[in-house]
Amino acid sequence: METTASASTSTAEAETGGRGAAAPPRMTTVSKHYFGGASSESDHDLRVDIIENMEDDYGMFVWPCSVILAEYVWQQRSRFTGSRVVELGAGTSLPGLVAAKIGADVTLTDIAHNTEVLNNIRQVCDLNNGNCTVLGLTWGEWDEPIFDLHPDVILGADVLYDSAMVII
Ligand SMILES: C[S@@+](CC[C@H](N)C(=O)[O-])C[C@H]1O[C@@H](n2cnc3c(N)ncnc32)[C@H](O)[C@@H]1O
Repeated sequence: METTASASTSTAEAETGGRGAAAPPRMTTVSKHYFGGASSESDHDLRVDIIENMEDDYGMFVWPCSVILAEYVWQQRSRFTGSRVVELGAGTSLPGLVAAKIGADVTLTDIAHNTEVLNNIRQVCDLNNGNCTVLGLTWGEWDEPIFDLHPDVILGADVLYDSAMVII
């Protein structure tokens, strides 16, 4: 499994449409993730591109567990093809996108009120031509759409990083 990234910065002016320097510059990268073959740029069966923003939001960059879980999905692809998959706390959604690319019916979810993360998930789906559903799903909140999901598999990478989030 190999991961590469290219980076670019967007200026505050660009961010605000030239209306002033309200926000600091932010670093946007597109990381490329390869699966199958030699998992390298020149030899792979599947590639997923992820838009990451190096800022202080946990859902805007790829966490190491996500890379491992994505590789697991790839290795176990025969179990995912044709199944209904929901990814919780998907963030940049690498495992879910691998599942979508190998033929799963995927719903990518993250905190319902975090529009920045949810919008980034939509952009990443478009970038990879991933036919995924994106849904705001905050853990412990029983919104109606949750009951229509009926997943065969639930994915979660690095979602237990804070003991306060574990409800037993
Ligand atoms: C450590 S990040 C992991 C992101 C991604 N799964 C990865 O491994 O790259 C945790 C993710 O859980 C999401 N999250 C945190 N609290 C949540 C909550 N209460 N409900 C739903 N998602 C939550 C965050 O927005 C973030 O995307």
